[in-house]
Amino acid sequence: MAIIASNFKTNHTRKSTAAFIEEVNTFLKEKNITNEVLVFPTATSLDSFNTVSNLTVGAQNAYATQKGSFTGEIGTEQLDEFNIKTILIGHSERRHILGESQEEIAKKFNFYKELGYTIVYCIGEPLEVKEQGIEQTLEYIYEQFVGIDTNYENLILAYEPVWAIGTGVTATNDDIKAVHSAIKEKISKPLLYGGSVKVANVHEICSLDGVDGALIGTASWLVEDFKQIIENTK
Ligand code: G3P
Repeated sequence: MAIIASNFKTNHTRKSTAAFIEEVNTFLKEKNITNEVLVFPTATSLDSFNTVSNLTVGAQNAYATQKGSFTGEIGTEQLDEFNIKTILIGHSERRHILGESQEEIAKKFNFYKELGYTIVYCIGEPLEVKEQGIEQTLEYIYEQFVGIDTNYENLILAYEPVWAIGTGVTATNDDIKAVHSAIKEKISKPLLYGGSVKVANVHEICSLDGVDGALIGTASWLVEDFKQIIENTK
């Protein structure tokens, strides 16, 4: 049984999100699929979705606040409205495009941890670090755990090498195994792989030692593909 997560990033509308979730929900129910499935829509598409127990809708991001003056952000007052209790933290696009520092990420992590949220916590190295070798890669990744309680009970990790995200270049099985086994030795939490996972490679990736599932962007946005991905990993 794998954990399969779809990160919509900045894609889908309220209407298409609702249709997507309804279709996945029906699929899981009818096929009796026991994979844990997570969907992270945009903030504007969050809603009180009525889903089967193994389909969870989470937030891609939120600020470390209940409410307040943080223009452009949302807090738990808005998430509570839809009973959202799952959040992605540390995604590489927030680190590298939106400029979130490790300090800010740790603050956010601790805020949502105190509230008992399920946290999908992302880590991963850029290409220039990968090219320096596995030791430097692991050193870089360990820095991304500074301030993070890796014993937190509702923690799921996602290893997403930055160079594999949205590029079509999936990490090799050896790359994935090297990083996953090193992380697993230190932290015994579910560990997903993310970075150009597709219908065609998801089964193989999820069968690797130390891989507990996948966090998928591009290849998950068409509901037919996402259903196939779930089917391929059940
Ligand atoms: O969070 C998922 C992710 O960043 C991977 O994106 O498009 O490479 O599957 P993609």
